[in-house]
Amino acid sequence: MLNRRSFLKTSAAGLFLPALIGRASAAESGAPLPIPDIIDLRSGGLESLDAIAGKTAILQGVETATVGYSQSFLGPVIRVNRGQTARMTLGNKLKENISVHWHGLHIEGAQDGGPHSMVAPGETMDAVLDIDQPAATLWYHSHIHKRTAVHVWHGLAGMMILDDPDAADTGLPDTYGVDDFPLVVQDRNFASNGTMTYAPQRAGFMMGYRGNEILVNGAIQPEVTVPAGLVRLRILNGSNARIYHFRFDDGRSFQQVASDGGLLKALVTMDKLTLSGAERVEIVVDFSDGKAAQLLSLQDDNFEMAMMARGMPAPNAIADDGAFEVMRFNVDTAKPAITMGLPAVFTDAPDPDFGEPVRRRFFKLDMMAGGMMGGNGGMAINGNPMDMDVINQEASLGETEIWEIEGSRMAHPFHVHGTSFKVLTHNGQPADFATTGMKDVVLVAGKSEILVRFDRKADADIPYMYHCHILEHEDLGMMGQFTVT
Ligand code: C2O
Ligand code: CU
Ligand code: CU
Repeated sequence: MLNRRSFLKTSAAGLFLPALIGRASAAESGAPLPIPDIIDLRSGGLESLDAIAGKTAILQGVETATVGYSQSFLGPVIRVNRGQTARMTLGNKLKENISVHWHGLHIEGAQDGGPHSMVAPGETMDAVLDIDQPAATLWYHSHIHKRTAVHVWHGLAGMMILDDPDAADTGLPDTYGVDDFPLVVQDRNFASNGTMTYAPQRAGFMMGYRGNEILVNGAIQPEVTVPAGLVRLRILNGSNARIYHFRFDDGRSFQQVASDGGLLKALVTMDKLTLSGAERVEIVVDFSDGKAAQLLSLQDDNFEMAMMARGMPAPNAIADDGAFEVMRFNVDTAKPAITMGLPAVFTDAPDPDFGEPVRRRFFKLDMMAGGMMGGNGGMAINGNPMDMDVINQEASLGETEIWEIEGSRMAHPFHVHGTSFKVLTHNGQPADFATTGMKDVVLVAGKSEILVRFDRKADADIPYMYHCHILEHEDLGMMGQFTVT
């Protein structure tokens, strides 16, 4: 079993370049928002995606050793279409095993890219993704058991945008990088020489590791110029552990149009939004007043103990309620803008008929079971820490089930591979499907029930995973494996 000491020892080894020489001045906000390159597979073709090491200018005056997929830090946005088979050659130019997990795609276990689908250094693997699910904002990241946290932290993650060419036109802004933006929000720590520091101490393992700098698409608190109209933001919380509570500095409202699994049935107007690890939302913000705005977030309060919260790196607050800056939007009134109203309902929003559930399963997320002194912090599910050689659950193709997930001590973003599910209840109160939509991550604060069905297969050689998406919890054992046959 993993103990904390061996985890610390391995976390710095292998993957990274030596520390770079140089001295960073204070982290600068206000860099232009990086717009990731696109790998466009919508009309077929074969592209390669390689895990590589690189140097990235994130801080002023220094370069940071990072890793990424086919770029020095993070990865391109991969665009795919429903109804196609997307093909990629996955390569690994790093010094340790990596994988590419397609988070949110409904594909067979054999193509899911989980911990069993390792790409060894110098090797390649073919990804053949048979895509048949509603349009959605998804993502991909490395998923090696006990190494996911350190891989994602240093950059092995990117966004995927899935379109459905046969679905009705939604009227949503969809000009990439102009009025439709991918926003991968992450927190990081840096040493004064520019090194991106991954060094969780006890609290960082127990509560998940956080950083005091906020990055969007790899840049610290960047700025982007948008047209004076409707702007669509596809927001992914790509952080290891931090939960964001977004709002705008001027309190403006916005409309949520999609969640993890695609469009909501109808627009939901809101002025604040909570997003836990691995969750995605699409929101539409109206900038037609021509006024600049800052996207802010309240501090993460997902801590078991005040004592531990005090040891957590936290971004500088800029507002009375403790909110910090995420990024800034400037408005250019000369740019062509969409200012028409949006449709009130989305006719092609997913709302599958799950039918009657035939079974109920229980998942108890264990944390600090047996106190804090245990080697893995007591991280497990139903008493069993993740074991690559153990299948924890066996599901049947096409059968609807209720999964009851019980957290402990703090809120845990619980994720299930291979499907999207409906959230039924939180602590006995019915969840509102109109506002949650189809999900593949549910933030469990207490007890939640989900309605789930699997329409793709996963056998015991390459099973699916369910786990807490606080990546330190996942790596320490809060994960299990299941088959669908
Ligand atoms: Cu986002 Cu099992 O992963
Ligand atoms: Cu996943
Ligand atoms: Cu957790």
